[in-house]
Amino acid sequence: MTERYEVNDEASFQTALIEVRTNLAQTGFNEIQAAKFLTAVSELARNILKYAERGWLEVTPIHHLNRSGLQVDAIDFGQGIDDIEKAMSEHYSSSGTLGQGLPGAKRLVDEFDINTSPQGTTVRVRSWV
Ligand SMILES: Nc1ncnc2c1ncn2[C@@H]1O[C@H](COP(=O)(O)OP(=O)(O)O)[C@@H](O)[C@H]1O
Ligand SMILES: [Mg+2]
Repeated sequence: MTERYEVNDEASFQTALIEVRTNLAQTGFNEIQAAKFLTAVSELARNILKYAERGWLEVTPIHHLNRSGLQVDAIDFGQGIDDIEKAMSEHYSSSGTLGQGLPGAKRLVDEFDINTSPQGTTVRVRSWV
């Protein structure tokens, strides 16, 4: 069952992250796994605020064989990323910040996938307990 959390200002950003943290604990992630995943999701949610102003997180429990995990889709209808390869490279930022968000997030999760077009962006991350 998917739960959806709006991200459109600092308060909703914080609420969404708290909900993801609760889901991680319920799924059975340990503290370190949970912190890594939450850091990745935090970067994606920051990017939503920064580049698209608004969007949402969709949080879905996932199962494969005897494993459990969590999937988060960070979704927005912003202008999209025109050069994914550049956006995924270390230190590239279109806004003069650190440019570590996307490549950093990718390192912190088990699965990472971006779909983007001029109509918006969805970044899907998954990790397994
Ligand atoms: N949701 C998004 N919508 C549009 N562009 C994005 C989005 N997320 C990331 N980007 C683009 O990808 C670049 C790299 O993102 P990131 O690694 O998080 O670095 P930073 O946010 O510090 O610039 C951003 O500078 C921006 O151009
Ligand atoms: Mg960023």
